[in-house]
Amino acid sequence: MNDRARSRTRVREAETIAGNSYELILKQREAFIERQATGPVVIASEDRKIQVNRQGTLRYYLAPLSYPETPLQDWLVFENHVRTHSGKHRHQGGLVIYVIEGEGYSMVDGERVDWKAGDLLLLPIRPGGVEHQHFNTRAGATCRWIAFCHLPMMDHLAMEMTQIEINPDFRG
Ligand SMILES: [Fe+2]
Repeated sequence: MNDRARSRTRVREAETIAGNSYELILKQREAFIERQATGPVVIASEDRKIQVNRQGTLRYYLAPLSYPETPLQDWLVFENHVRTHSGKHRHQGGLVIYVIEGEGYSMVDGERVDWKAGDLLLLPIRPGGVEHQHFNTRAGATCRWIAFCHLPMMDHLAMEMTQIEINPDFRG
């Protein structure tokens, strides 16, 4: 084999190794460890713009699809500013909501549950998920809470999401 042929062979081997499943796994683990060592561990509120979407007026702190650089990729953590009321949707429970400011209530499968600043609201796990919508009881006053949702659990519960009513502040 001459030098040119030898170098062609080496290039081909390198390409094969790069696309090899085992090598991709090694790379993924390296990236994971690197993210834990160097990724941001404080998520500043000013770095996360508030988004008005079909369900609410939300500030996403952790959202793997939007922020792949954060060390934790298994959590969805977002703040909801409930101005009058949120949209209504149904998905599996198993998440917790901490009320930061104000007071309001949620309709959970047709039942009203009241809450205020300092309370923790949870959504139960039920076959087919839980229909829910959030309301501010004091018009004009700030009302906000933060939700913590562990995504692998949602996969294991085969969570679907169905939008039933739209956030009144949404201008799609
Ligand atoms: Fe929800």
